[in-house]
Amino acid sequence: MIQVAFFDTKTYDRPAFEKYGEKADVKFRFLETKLTEDTVELARGCDAVCVFVNDTVSAPVIGRLHEMGVRLIALRCAGYNNVDVRAAFGKIHVVHVPAYSPYAVAEHAAALLLTSVRRIHKAYNRTREFNFSLHGLTGFDLHGKTVGVIGSGKIGRIFMDICRGFGMNVIAYDPFPVEDSGIRYVSLEELFRESDIISLHCPLTEETHHLIDENAIHQMKKGVVILNTSRGALIDAEALLEGIKARKVGAACLDVYEEEADVFFEDRSGHILNDDLLARLISMPNVIVTSHQGFLTEEALDSIAETTVGNILACFGGDGLCSNELCYRCGKIEQCRRERKEKCF
Ligand code: NAI
Repeated sequence: MIQVAFFDTKTYDRPAFEKYGEKADVKFRFLETKLTEDTVELARGCDAVCVFVNDTVSAPVIGRLHEMGVRLIALRCAGYNNVDVRAAFGKIHVVHVPAYSPYAVAEHAAALLLTSVRRIHKAYNRTREFNFSLHGLTGFDLHGKTVGVIGSGKIGRIFMDICRGFGMNVIAYDPFPVEDSGIRYVSLEELFRESDIISLHCPLTEETHHLIDENAIHQMKKGVVILNTSRGALIDAEALLEGIKARKVGAACLDVYEEEADVFFEDRSGHILNDDLLARLISMPNVIVTSHQGFLTEEALDSIAETTVGNILACFGGDGLCSNELCYRCGKIEQCRRERKEKCF
């Protein structure tokens, strides 16, 4: 029986993980707390930890896990910016779920976009109070507008298809363009200049940290709609707020936020929100915030659990090879994984 400490458990996680765990002799210890330096001891006696986007898998945490004999960090998400993969190399193997339902996130981005440009969030609240006035609800057609997609991976490409369905003109920026895809790639500057709507679908890396900052916003069209369903720190939230206050940014739809770790996924309705920046953003009539729910569909949850349990079994069984391992050996995590035919260490 493989024992796994499952951090940051939410009610929606358990059914699928219990289902696939039982089938495979993987026993999950479901913990509500996030993994941090203070909670790492809770993994004692386990073979692996299973973590999500806001768990802290820093070098000190990895060091403690290693000392305790934990041999695997199984991310139940695609992004791994919260894991010090370099520190894990040689100590603990790291696996992730590279794809579960890219449709879930792309469709959520589309839902946010439609909600924002047709003011559905306003209309919903109004009609619930029998206010049937249309004042202030004027939107704009998506048809014929230019959408700039940053990151043309799995999610970005599905989002582009959805936008094409609306008759939008799609342009994209990606340092690794997909060959023969028919995608019209442009420079980042051109994308900022030409886009009526900008949607972020790239990973958070040192290079993409605050990709959308004051300078980027300065280059954008007046009234631009910015969508972020990727990672919060892609946007400098203070610069975004200034852009909104200056009437430069027409709307922002955020499923992620740089400082979300202390706030998102919890019911804070009875509390005073300490994050003034988030409170100010939420107070804006043209900002929609969802709390990192892009992944949250039945199909995605099932697929995440199935792949995670498969990753755990692959790492602890046979030759220990797992195609979803994130290896730091060559420094190019994605390429390394694809080309590697043997264990990293
Ligand atoms: P992917 O790996 O298929 O695609 C990422 C793309 O970004 C690749 O084409 C890559 O070349 C490109 N890229 C890398 N560096 C870039 C840069 N500097 N500028 C522009 N593009 C760059 O990943 P996928 O599955 O499409 O996911 C994208 C992101 O979505 C993830 O990194 C994750 O942060 C986020 N995500 C959010 C979820 C949510 O619930 N809101 C759920 C799942 C993923």
